[in-house]
Amino acid sequence: MKVLVLHGPNLNLLGTREPGVYGRVTLAQVDRMLRDHARRRGDSVECRQSNHEGQLIDWLQAAQREGFAGVVFNPGAFTHYSIALRDAVAAITLPVVEVHLSNVHAREEFRRYSVIAAVARGQISGFGPQSYLLGFDALASVSRRPIPRR
Ligand code: DQA
Repeated sequence: MKVLVLHGPNLNLLGTREPGVYGRVTLAQVDRMLRDHARRRGDSVECRQSNHEGQLIDWLQAAQREGFAGVVFNPGAFTHYSIALRDAVAAITLPVVEVHLSNVHAREEFRRYSVIAAVARGQISGFGPQSYLLGFDALASVSRRPIPRR
């Protein structure tokens, strides 16, 4: 199984960005954790980051064509207001798992609402970099084809 991991705006700054909220682990380290995790399961991941809404939409639209089984998606602040990203997630048939490093429900009021959550397969929030690995496992559990019976 090949999974696409998308990181939204400002996640390129992980490690130095508000470390009290997001920790000291860099995005490159998160991506390495994901690649190792996937490899241990016999799967693979491709990780991409963009600060641009349109780029994220293009990647979501192309994901199936590119042979991905699903998407682990941290939309960053777009989570809370991007109807265009919401519509892109709704438009594609691949399962999308929404993930957040921080517990968005325990922070400012405006972070409690996700426009993506209703069209995602599910949401994982609050476990730091582990959120991505849990998101990967959640995706694997819904998208892996059953082993054919003899
Ligand atoms: C975030 C939470 C968002 O509210 C915030 O805008 C981010 C990161 C997270 O991973 O905790 O950029 O998606």
